[in-house]
Amino acid sequence: MNPIPVNEPLLNGNEKKYLFECIETGWISSEGPFIKQFEEQFAARVGRKYGIAVSNGSVALDAAVTALGIGQGDEVILPTFTIISCAAAIVRAGAVPVVVDCDPYTWNMDVNQIEAKITPKTKAIMVVHIYGLPTDMEPVIALADKHGLHIIEDAAEMHGQTYKGLPCGSFGAISTFSFYPNKHITTGEGGMLVTDDEKLAERCRSLRNLCFQPQKRFVHEELGWNFRMTNLQAALGVAQLERLDEFVSRKRHMGQKYTELLSDIPGLLLPVPKTVYAENIYWVYGLVLKDEVPFDAVEAMQHLGKHKIGTRPFFWCMHEQPVFRNMGLFDNVYCPAAERIARRGFYIPSGMALTDEQIEQVAKTLHEIFG
Ligand SMILES: Cc1ncc(COP(=O)(O)O)c(C=O)c1O
Repeated sequence: MNPIPVNEPLLNGNEKKYLFECIETGWISSEGPFIKQFEEQFAARVGRKYGIAVSNGSVALDAAVTALGIGQGDEVILPTFTIISCAAAIVRAGAVPVVVDCDPYTWNMDVNQIEAKITPKTKAIMVVHIYGLPTDMEPVIALADKHGLHIIEDAAEMHGQTYKGLPCGSFGAISTFSFYPNKHITTGEGGMLVTDDEKLAERCRSLRNLCFQPQKRFVHEELGWNFRMTNLQAALGVAQLERLDEFVSRKRHMGQKYTELLSDIPGLLLPVPKTVYAENIYWVYGLVLKDEVPFDAVEAMQHLGKHKIGTRPFFWCMHEQPVFRNMGLFDNVYCPAAERIARRGFYIPSGMALTDEQIEQVAKTLHEIFG
C-alpha cells in the first residue's frame, strides 16, 4: 500500500502560469504586482477593506498584537487549545497570556468561561477558530463591547468558513490567516492580516517592512520586522484563491465521507458536522479517543503509522508548555477539557489532494485497529 500523507496540497490550477509570469517579468520580491492583487482579492473575500500579506500566519499574530499597542502590563485572553504562535505573539510583546479551556466537542474556546478571566489589565480577546468550526462569536463580541476590549481573530484555519453567514476573518479589529500548505489555500509559506481600519492597516504595513519611513527611509522611529511576502508566493495565492469555493466543497465532501465511514466505531469521537452558526469545513479531520479506548493518541498514531497512514497529534495546551511554565506563567492553571483532548486527540489525512480511495483505506485501517 502506498503511504497516505497527512497533507498534500492541490496545485493544478493557474499556479504554474502565474509563477511563470513572475519569472518572465523578473518580479519576484514583495514589490511585485501579485502582492497587491492577492491582498485586495483576499480582503474582499472576507469582507474587509485592507489586506496586508506577510510571510506566515505566526508573524501575522506578532504584527496584530503590536499594531494594537498591546505590551507590558497588558493581559490578553485566548484559548489554551491552540498553536504556540498565538501565546508567543502575546509574550513577545511583553504582555501576559490568560487562557480559557475549550468545549469538549467543538474544541473551540468555551466562551462562557471568558468573562471570569477579565481583569482591569485585559486589553484584548484573541479568538482562534479550531480545526473547522468557528468559535461562537456573538458572546465574545458582546463581552468585548461591554469591557472595551479589542478582538484579534486568528482565522488561520478558516478560509472560506462563515459564522452566522458572515465570513470568518471579518470579526474584530484585526483578523489573521495562514497559507501554510495544509490550509485550504496555500502560498507555500505565507500569511495575511485583514482589517477595516485604515490606520491599523498602515501600522501593520509599516511593522511588516522594518518601519521604514516614507520620507527618511533609513531613519527609524520604531522597530519593525521584515515580514514581507514575495511576489512568487502571492502568485500562488491568487491562483489558489480562484478555487477557494471548490476547495471548501472538497473538504466538506472529505469530512462527510470520513464521518459516514467512521461513525460506527464506538471508541471514536468525530468532529461535530455543524452547529447553529456554522457547517464544519474540516480544515483537518480530528479524532478523539473515548475513555473506553485503552490507549492514548500517541499509541493510536503509532498503529496508523505502521500502516503508512500519516497523522498529527492535536495541539498541546498553552498552560502546559514548558517554555511558558519556565517563565513562571500559568501556575495553578487547569483546563481539563483541553488537557484531555490534547492527550486523546489526533488527526488523520486531511489534505486537499486526498482521494475517496485513500479515505476508504484510512477508514478500513481504523476499523481494524478499533473494531
Ligand atoms: C490557528 C493557527 N494560528 C496560527 C498558525 C500559524 O501559521 P503559520 O504556520 O503560517 O505560521 C497556525 C498554523 O497552522 C494555526 O493553525
